[in-house]
Amino acid sequence: MIPFVSSFIKMAILDVLTYPDPRLRKQADPVESVDDVVRQLVDDMAETMYAAPGIGLAAVQVNVPKRVIVIDISEDQSDLKVFINPEITEKSGEQESEEGCLSVPGVYAPVTRANSIVVNALDRNGTEFKLESTGMLAVCIQHEVDHLDGKVFVDYLSRLKQERIRKKLSKQARRQPTPLPSPAPVM
Ligand code: NI
Repeated sequence: MIPFVSSFIKMAILDVLTYPDPRLRKQADPVESVDDVVRQLVDDMAETMYAAPGIGLAAVQVNVPKRVIVIDISEDQSDLKVFINPEITEKSGEQESEEGCLSVPGVYAPVTRANSIVVNALDRNGTEFKLESTGMLAVCIQHEVDHLDGKVFVDYLSRLKQERIRKKLSKQARRQPTPLPSPAPVM
């Protein structure tokens, strides 16, 4: 409607789907080529993640069923990592940590995941890279790759807890903002 203005808008904050929205269950498709459309998506996702604030976001969460993830676990939002078509090729060890999710506002729970992983992906320029990670970064990558496969962290909890969370979030007419400071990383 306002083409003059829109040409100056570089980034946008996208709407994040809230559990139990069925669109969070979509299996995301691989990105065929990393073009300007994908780069715009990456930039908008980063903006959305930083604004929330969160440390990770998968494209499925903003209703784009493509295999695209952004992560930044730094304290000062200075270390954006982009994973396009990520594949976790190795997993070892175990760690349990408290997780939160931008799609499950206000809910935090411990989840057990691999301690150390190797991931192959394309970056924002479409260049292949391989990353070994442990600790929080490894947790976040596993959490986001789950989103690309239609999986949410509450799936790891007991049926009773899942039911409680569904009821709590379904009752909310509007999305609750994430409390600050959040008791666990939100991704
Ligand atoms: Ni999440």
